[in-house]
Amino acid sequence: MARPTSIYVCQSCGNEALSWSGRCNGCGECNTLVEQRREGAAGGSGKRAQGGRGARAAAKPVPLRDVSAPKLARLRTGIDELDRVLGGGLVPGSLVLLGGSPGIGKSTLTGMALGNLAAAGHKVLYVSGEESAAQVRLRAERLGDDALSVPVIAETSLEAVIGTLEAERPAACVIDSVQTLHAEGMSGAPGSVGQVREAANAVMEVAKRLDCAVILVGHVTKEGAVAGPRVLEHLVDCVLFFEGERERSFRTVRALKNRFGATSEVGVFEMRSGGLVEVADPSARFVGEASAAPGSVVLASMEGSRPLLVEVQALVAPTEIVPPRRTATGIDRNRLAMVLAVLARHGGPSLASADVFVNVAGGVRIDEPGADLAVALAVASAHRGEPLADTDGRPLACFGEVGLTGELRSVAHADRRVAEAVKFGLGPVFVPAGPELPSAVAPFADLRRALRAAFAGRGQAAAAA
Ligand code: TYD
Ligand code: MG
Repeated sequence: MARPTSIYVCQSCGNEALSWSGRCNGCGECNTLVEQRREGAAGGSGKRAQGGRGARAAAKPVPLRDVSAPKLARLRTGIDELDRVLGGGLVPGSLVLLGGSPGIGKSTLTGMALGNLAAAGHKVLYVSGEESAAQVRLRAERLGDDALSVPVIAETSLEAVIGTLEAERPAACVIDSVQTLHAEGMSGAPGSVGQVREAANAVMEVAKRLDCAVILVGHVTKEGAVAGPRVLEHLVDCVLFFEGERERSFRTVRALKNRFGATSEVGVFEMRSGGLVEVADPSARFVGEASAAPGSVVLASMEGSRPLLVEVQALVAPTEIVPPRRTATGIDRNRLAMVLAVLARHGGPSLASADVFVNVAGGVRIDEPGADLAVALAVASAHRGEPLADTDGRPLACFGEVGLTGELRSVAHADRRVAEAVKFGLGPVFVPAGPELPSAVAPFADLRRALRAAFAGRGQAAAAA
């Protein structure tokens, strides 16, 4: 028997070292190295890099146009919002990592997807490492007959899972979760970097060979990274992130990486008693719930290729605390700080002795500078205690980036944002001035003018536009 060799793998960044040290050379974290033994391996990672299978023979490069690429139809999961985020369905042979915090609905979503695929005549497999088959069944009972027809194995041994995949040859498989799998030849607890990487590599190899689309469910760490280290994100074809506030019913799925589609798409779901329900028209929900009170503004934002109207709310409260609090939910804190600074300099209130809270209603997260104007108007409105809704109670809609000198800057897809607002009877929409603006807008060159118009009554603003 060969002498067992040990390597030390950082549980935070995946860096490998030959000897133990208190501090990882890769990421500088302390106490993250864990010993990993490999029986008879000649230098652990070297073996893996060569694939272990005659990789030394020279390969013949082929021009891309001569590469045979049989066009495999995508597998539609039957959940339109999910299919859209995937770029049109699951690609056979691909690996999708679905991350999200516990209880967000990962098992529910994947269970529903497999149920639909099974109903459409595809062979599927659900590998549950976390729950017993009986527990999976209880969930499926809530999801309906299709979900109950999904074959399940409760298994955590990587070898057994690979064996089952080879024997069953499903078209789609869910592994819930990748952190529970463990390879027998390796030491280290399930969920450790080495185990997760080994499991994902092995699963990828069979998935490619059998043209099976695999969804790996992954936990997120408290920092929000999928599977602790980012090792898996490089490996898989697509990284989906399922997020939302657990206490709110709205959930969003977005692609952080997608080799077969755009990464800007977002699917919106609502958790109900019968599973996740797609919200095909989220704007209607958010506008319907928008309030006409001071501090509320509707932002016409873009979620991928789709315009989305969301309500941005602000609260300004006097405080003795220094420095005062700035709390942002759903938008970036730094952008809030920037908008507050510009407000103070360019026609808005100075809020040095006030706490400011900004919230995007519905648990939605907005990641674009186009939200600046909405934040500025909501904060100004909250500060003055004057609503921005018109006399019919329709909220003010707007979008635009606020520059450091107080100017308003255009953002992409102005026409589609405005069209969405108009569809819900909102308008004129406050927008940054610029060429080729659609109708039903009130364009402003800078924040000062937008603020003045907003509080002078929107009728006048429309007349001026
Ligand atoms: P789950 O899919 O198990 O989350 P995850 O796999 O991400 O940990 O379920 C998430 C929550 O959703 C759970 O607390 C129960 C709830 N739920 C419903 O409200 N309705 C349903 O039909 C189902 C199946 C779950
Ligand atoms: Mg689960």
